[in-house]
Amino acid sequence: MPLVTTTKMFEKAYREGFAIGAFNVNNMEIIQGITEAAKEEQAPLILQVSAGARKYAKHVYLIKLVEAAMEDTGLDIALHLDHGEDFEICKSCIDGGFTSVMIDGSKHSFEDNVKLTKEVVEYAHAHGVVVEGELGRLAGVEDDIKVSAKDSSYTDPAQVEEFVERTGVDSLAIAIGTSHGAYKFKPGTKPQLRFDILEEVSKRLPGFPIVLHGASSVMQEYVETVNRFGGQMPGAVGVPEDMLREAARMAVCKINIDSDLRLAMTASVRKHLAEHPDHFDPRQYLTPARAAIKEVVAHKMKYVLGCSGKA
Ligand code: G3H
Ligand code: 13P
Ligand code: ZN
Repeated sequence: MPLVTTTKMFEKAYREGFAIGAFNVNNMEIIQGITEAAKEEQAPLILQVSAGARKYAKHVYLIKLVEAAMEDTGLDIALHLDHGEDFEICKSCIDGGFTSVMIDGSKHSFEDNVKLTKEVVEYAHAHGVVVEGELGRLAGVEDDIKVSAKDSSYTDPAQVEEFVERTGVDSLAIAIGTSHGAYKFKPGTKPQLRFDILEEVSKRLPGFPIVLHGASSVMQEYVETVNRFGGQMPGAVGVPEDMLREAARMAVCKINIDSDLRLAMTASVRKHLAEHPDHFDPRQYLTPARAAIKEVVAHKMKYVLGCSGKA
């Protein structure tokens, strides 16, 4: 059970019309909850680490925890850097054992994005690592940086062939109306995604794996639990699951999910502590929190990604 790249995973996902979940990890309980679900579902798996996660847990702890999860479950796992913002962080993750990195040059001009992405691709490919690039800019919060709706932009399909050709990226994240975090659409309005852009991109890049960020569905049962037990998340709304399933049937091979895990874990901890005010052993509230992560991930694999049994 070595760490693997996403190449074979994406080929199969594209061919068979499913997507692989890329789940953000920050600590042991999250890694255990996700990998236990993947084992039960026999699903292919990408674990991804943000700069914030590396700062929180340290690179070495995350690597060792993922290695432990592989040994424990026998799963093949791709370990991916989420939203690498410069060459240095990508290099550090490549040198430090990751099998996949994202270079997120989406805030730069097209030319600067090409230049930066190409530089990362050259280094990564020379080390057997694959690269995800991004064109178009999602709204929402990443690493405490908020991108407002007015600074976000849909991917322009007319740019994708040139970007992929000039950079040599292995997959491409596009912006079709999803956003990071728990507040993706105005409550009461109908969520809209630009499937026409996805369609046009896939026509221009036949067989090429597309990535969808900001793809939590912000499961309402957990929002309600958070709000019932002292939290304040009114108006939290995500991407409807049927839209994600549709994207997974199309060219989208990787679907990024973080907020749904945060929400499930927080709902579980809030509920547990409200119901057991005398508990102060972290194992007492982290055991159900880990089980909540496992339940959410299994649900995604079965009903949203369509990747159960595809390992
Ligand atoms: O897209 C961002 C992910 O949700 C990671 O969030 O940067 O706060 O760890 P983070
Ligand atoms: P969510 O905030 O919708 O979970 O998106 C996560 C993501 O895109 C990580 O890169
Ligand atoms: Zn993202």
